[in-house]
Amino acid sequence: MSGFKFNLTPRAVPKVLTKYRCIKTKIPVPQSLKLLKKIKKYESSNVMDQLPVIWDHAEGYQVFDSWGNKWIDFTSSIFVTNAGHGNSRIIKRVKEQLDKPLLHSYSYPTPIRAAFLEKLISMTPSYLKKASLFSSGTEASERAIKLARYYGMQFTPRKAVIVGGEGNFHGKTMGSQMAGGQHDGKKWIGYLDPNMVHMPFPYPWALERSGLRGEALFFKHLKDLEKGGVKLNEIAAFFVESFQGWGAVFYPVDYIKTMRKWSKENKSLLVFDEIQAGFGRTGKFFAYEHYGVEPDMVICGKAISSSLPLSAVLGGAGLIELDPTYTSTHGGHPLVCAAGLGNLEAFEKDDLVAVSKRKEAVITRELARLKKRFPGRIGRILGKGMLFGVFVTKKNSDELDIDFTNRIVERAMEKGVFSICTGRGTIKLGPPLTIPESALVEGLRVYEECFEEMA
Ligand SMILES: Cc1ncc(COP(=O)(O)O)c(C=O)c1O
Repeated sequence: MSGFKFNLTPRAVPKVLTKYRCIKTKIPVPQSLKLLKKIKKYESSNVMDQLPVIWDHAEGYQVFDSWGNKWIDFTSSIFVTNAGHGNSRIIKRVKEQLDKPLLHSYSYPTPIRAAFLEKLISMTPSYLKKASLFSSGTEASERAIKLARYYGMQFTPRKAVIVGGEGNFHGKTMGSQMAGGQHDGKKWIGYLDPNMVHMPFPYPWALERSGLRGEALFFKHLKDLEKGGVKLNEIAAFFVESFQGWGAVFYPVDYIKTMRKWSKENKSLLVFDEIQAGFGRTGKFFAYEHYGVEPDMVICGKAISSSLPLSAVLGGAGLIELDPTYTSTHGGHPLVCAAGLGNLEAFEKDDLVAVSKRKEAVITRELARLKKRFPGRIGRILGKGMLFGVFVTKKNSDELDIDFTNRIVERAMEKGVFSICTGRGTIKLGPPLTIPESALVEGLRVYEECFEEMA
């Protein structure tokens, strides 16, 4: 968050009343401050670094407070509620489960667990045969790390190297954080696992600078690993975040294709972290499908339920069975499996992946309009489906303007649009896939208003 703090002094802002948005109070709402203070008193106070809106309820693509304000949501609660907040199919399934009642069942078998797993495996690519279930994304990442190591150690105990990507993210517990490539966040760990190494991320600008194609860059990165002391035949797995979240930055297709080919030839796994990327977000069921490769394992979370805490590792049967000690107290919880099942039913019946793909054209058109109006302030626009990153620069410069972007996000909130604050100088767009096109356009034009007033 770059040390930026949103303004917590209630101030009069112009009233907003449209079909989709309503701002009728000072912002932040004066009465909300008491609640914010209470949270700060009882919880790690950095939770207060978010936009100062107290969520009362959320439906579809809108967030409501209890003082009559409503926002168009461009966050999907950080890429969770892809099927829409409070999706009726999810609520129906959860209610059925509540009414039984069955509120916990450890890993004892339940009909809802079986129904969810069957649906999940039937809707994902055919080479993903089995899953193990958890609650958070980072737990699923930890599981994938463990399985990758078990896999490598079948050949030799030294085949334990996990190759991550610089700047990638897989979670905040020790193993996931070490596998991730955000090194500043690792200072607390102390002793870093020497068998977790990283290749540079082939950002589009790095590719442009190097003049290399993705394939050549992959081999260069591999060579550099080797020069750094990594024995390539000891690589158990490549862990790939399907795109880097802060800017919707994808890998070059030929880079990943080459990684797939090399890893297959060298008995290493290819693992995609789809925790943020999956479930229709990018106009395909999984974002890695844009690369045209078949991975060995896929890590899921967030929008796998569009609601309650559920995560999973998916893979071939042989891989998922490698660790016979798997348990997770809350993994496969009956309520979350019910939510997961309702979510997948929504994806199937409402064809949400196609919906996401279709709306890509609306976002692209509107963002092109924004760039045309403010060429000195908008750099790259990256993304696919319903996931975009708008790079906001200092005036007529390539340098990202983090402070200005944070203020745009704050101003948009004052106008009834709730956005993600990346703290990196990008506006990251991720509305629920169910958002009507007219609300999508209205929300995107609010950014235009913000630029008009502030650029
Ligand atoms: C790509 C990616 N991996 C892992 C995680 C960690 O998930 P969780 O916060 O559920 O542990 C996130 C969360 O933002 C993520 O975006």
